[in-house]
Amino acid sequence: MRTQVAIIGAGPAGLALSHMLHRLGVASIVLETRSRAVVEATIRAGVLEQGTIDILADIGAGERMQREGSRHEGTILRHDGRDLRIDLAGLTGGKTVMVYPQHDVLKDLVAARLATGGDIRFEVSDVRVRDIDSDAPRVSYRDPDGQPRTIQADFVAGCDGSQGVCRPLVLESHPKVHEHIYPYAWLGILCHGPPSSRELIYARGATGFALVSTRSAQVQRMYLQCDPLDKTEHWSDDRIWSEFHARLRTHEGWTLREGEIFSKTVVGMRSVVVESMRSGRLFLAGDAAHIVPPTGAKGLNLAISDVFILARAFGRFYNDGSADQLDAYSATALARVWRAQRFSWWMTSLLHVAPGAGELQQKLQHAELDYLARSRSARAVLAENYVGLPLDFPVDQGL
Ligand code: APR
Ligand code: PHB
Repeated sequence: MRTQVAIIGAGPAGLALSHMLHRLGVASIVLETRSRAVVEATIRAGVLEQGTIDILADIGAGERMQREGSRHEGTILRHDGRDLRIDLAGLTGGKTVMVYPQHDVLKDLVAARLATGGDIRFEVSDVRVRDIDSDAPRVSYRDPDGQPRTIQADFVAGCDGSQGVCRPLVLESHPKVHEHIYPYAWLGILCHGPPSSRELIYARGATGFALVSTRSAQVQRMYLQCDPLDKTEHWSDDRIWSEFHARLRTHEGWTLREGEIFSKTVVGMRSVVVESMRSGRLFLAGDAAHIVPPTGAKGLNLAISDVFILARAFGRFYNDGSADQLDAYSATALARVWRAQRFSWWMTSLLHVAPGAGELQQKLQHAELDYLARSRSARAVLAENYVGLPLDFPVDQGL
């Protein structure tokens, strides 16, 4: 079996890349170890930047998102019982974010790609990428029946997340990885019930961070800062609601709506960036190359912007015969990745209570929040990062 680009992983990065390549007339095959049903049911974040919204619409996978997603023109920072609204649209010349769950993005990407004749192979195993330093890399794997198969490709795109096989291959030639593990984690819950707020609330409570997000009119997503070693068994429903009430306390006449909790998970928080997103003919994109802490919800958006840059580079290679954009891919993508890492780290540090942090840190967080409240420019910096920094070229001129 031959293709132009073998894509490892059917997460947001791999699926969006296969769409973009199709638009450019470049053939690809996507290999995925999990089943379609599991891929489509994995709960992750749900805030899409303006650029991601535009790209999903542009590749033909944005119709349901436009219909069912909820556009948010602002977001709220809560501290000391007071709310500071960040007017995203007003501060960015009309840009907004879309709250639309990642698993719905995946459903839409899979359905739209299959409808355009895409080749996505679920439930494969034993995926191995070989000969990345040659002009003819190969990917071997077993199909769901256990039969061994091989794909001969011009290039391999490693979109297989942080636990995949592609990152270690790149690290063999470029071993440097930048990593910071935060001394706290998030306990995420899903509950039945109506939203408590029209906009997301990021709260710095006295005992830690809390986030009020949403999934739909009937299902709410909320998070509490917890210890990285915490287990969900330590968190009874009563303890969860009592912490939410304490951390979200406000003087502004708002009440938290409780609901029946049907999912609890503990999510660790890390910042990770590999020094190179390429080795030979293997290109990394998305979580395979970097992880951001979840504050600000940049993970999915970065995966989409990586593959946008990569698809454009493949398009240039196949259409004009020039490898210049492929050669620049790692540096171009990493510049954007570091900007998003900086923002995610800043927002995380602003709103969490680090264990053992002294009064100095607390005063600095106060000062930063106070500055945001007083300065439109400071809020504009937050807003332009939250809705997503622009790609270096417009979406409609990209592909
Ligand atoms: N072979 C094939 N597929 C693999 C392999 C492998 N060896 N290892 C992992 N995969 C698959 C996973 O099952 C997963 O479906 O690769 C996919 C990677 O998807 P994600 O982890 O979602 O990564 P990415 O597409 O980069 O998207 C990043 O999605 O997962 C969230 O929080 C993350 O928001 C971030 C964004
Ligand atoms: C979510 O809804 O899961 C979510 C929202 C905002 C964030 C992170 C996660 O910053």
